[in-house]
This record gives sequence, C-alpha cells and structure tokens, in this order.
Amino acid sequence: MTADEQAAARAGVEEDAGDARERMRQEVAEGLSRPQKEIAPKHFYDTRGSELFEEITRLDEYYPTRTERALLETWSGPWVEGLRPAALVELGAGSARKSRIILEAMRRHGSGRLYVPVDVAEAFLEDTAVQLRGEYPGFAIVPAATDFTASLALPLTPPEPTWYALLGSTVGNLDTGSAVGLLTRVARRLRPTDRFLLGADLRPGPNKSVARLEAAYNDARGVTAAFNLNVLRVLNRELGSDFDLDSFRHHAFYDASRGRIEMHLVSQRPQLVRIPGERAIAFREGETVRTEISCKYDQATLESILSAAGLATTRWKEDPEGLFALVMTRRHP
Ligand code: AVJ
Repeated sequence: MTADEQAAARAGVEEDAGDARERMRQEVAEGLSRPQKEIAPKHFYDTRGSELFEEITRLDEYYPTRTERALLETWSGPWVEGLRPAALVELGAGSARKSRIILEAMRRHGSGRLYVPVDVAEAFLEDTAVQLRGEYPGFAIVPAATDFTASLALPLTPPEPTWYALLGSTVGNLDTGSAVGLLTRVARRLRPTDRFLLGADLRPGPNKSVARLEAAYNDARGVTAAFNLNVLRVLNRELGSDFDLDSFRHHAFYDASRGRIEMHLVSQRPQLVRIPGERAIAFREGETVRTEISCKYDQATLESILSAAGLATTRWKEDPEGLFALVMTRRHP
C-alpha cells in the first residue's frame, strides 16, 4: 500500500468509527424520546460492563449460569456422542466458559476440531481465542466479531454436522418478534444434520418462586445495580452525555403478565440530561429508563417461538427445580 492508500484506509476506518458513533447517538436519542424511555442492553458491555457481568454470573443469587453449566456437564457428553459434531459455533460466546464443557466433550469423543465463537465484544473475543488456542491445541479457533442480532455472516462455512449454540438465556433480551427474527436466521443456516442448542431461563413454577427470580436481579452486594448504572457511564464516554450516575437508582422486577424481568434506572429528581447534538432530555422525579428485558419461558411458549422460526425441539432438559432449560433443536423437517 502506498502512503496515500494507507492514509485513505485510515480515514475510512475513522469514518466508520464516526458513523458508528453517529448511529449510536441517534439510536440512543430515539430510545430516550419514547414515552417509556429505553436504552438497548447491548450498551452494557464495555470492558467494565463485561467484567461486572462475569461477576454477576458468580453471585449466589444468580442461578442461571451455574444451573446451565450443570446441565451442560450432564448432557454435553451424550449429545456429542449422538451427534458427533464436526464444529461448534457459539453465538454470544463471551468468555467461553460454558463452551469449554462442549469442547471438552468433543475432544474426549474425537468428534470435531473447529470452534467459532461469535461475539460483539471484539477485545474480549480475541483474548478468549488466544486462551482457547493454548488449551485446545488440536482445535482451530476462528473467532467472528459480529453483532449476531444484526447479521449471522461467518468467516467460513462450518463442516457438517455443526452444533450451533446460544446459551445463557441471551435470547431473553429480545422481545418475541425479535427472538423469532433471530431464530429464523439461525434456522435458515441449519442443514439437516446440524443442530441448534438454546439455553433458556424459565418462568416461576412449583419449585421456583418469584422471589428467587427477582433476587437474581437484585443481589445483596449491588453488583447488578453497578452493572445497570454502568450503561450511563458508557453513554457519557461514547456520546459525551452528562448523566449523573448518583441521581439514578437500579430497579428490577418480574412482570408476570409478560413473563419477563425488566431492569430500569429510576431518576431520583427532576433533571435534564444533555447529549451533544441532541435536544436535552427531561426526566421527572421517579421517571424510569428501561435498560433491559429478560424474558422467561415455559415449554409451550418457547416451543411456539421456536416453531414460528422453523425449529423443532429434539431434546428438552431442565434441572430438578425447573430453574433453567437446555433445548436442542433442528430445522423443521
Ligand atoms: C445475559 C441477558 C442473559 O438477562 O439474566 C444479568 C443479563 N442482566 N443480570 C440476564 C443480566 C442483569 C442476562 N443475560
């Protein structure tokens, strides 16, 4: 490349970054102008937010991660033995702690040697890939930095059969329509021998109280509160806004009629927030901005979503308390 070409490429990159910030500003301003103000949960996950989420997954109150891990410990072996996947493609891989259980089973059974972690958090993803290459020398680790809610483009066509996975009840961040949209795009990728494994948090039931569910989003140490408030720090840094973190409080509750946890930040006083380039945003005392929905499922509800997306359940496994489910699916025959 000539110096001019390099300069042009650099300008291109900077312009892309500028475009991305501009899009973010418009999106955030639009969300904050709705009757129920909203900020998309994808903005939680800067480095600090990703670390806080990791801390959440280790909290006593936050049962989903360890329950799903126990289910994977039980079922990965038998499923790998039965399906003999050539590759694992994990959407929203994060630190890949749970994928290691599946990779371990694939190594044990000698079924496949390719792992494609897909995640938006690019820096986190690279660190994960480097670590995994050390731990699994026999595997090709091919990370894909994409927002899989927008596009499922992969850097390669994985061999058949491929085991796709979306764990951690990540799907719960999406409302029903968006969940069907995402799952439809997954379904379209699936060849007849491929499988898609979904981890889903369950609704309250005989052995799962609403109190237990709500405690998972209101931990005693306030880690979830810090995680929630961190999104304002992200906006202040990225957009130059002036959210005062001390004048918002964390609030999370279960909405039984919609079957979902909602996380909000509650304004403690009337205030104006400025985002450079946008009209000032007024908050009344007690007014909230919703930062996350986390949908909970029962088998009938989830299977109707899956079916609308063109997926059929082949296995449904939950823990004895009915806290969490692993759902193996295939493309509708
Ligand atoms: C990563 C979306 C599954 O909804 O439980 C944890 C995020 N938010 N505590 C969830 C989260 C607050 C988590 N998901």
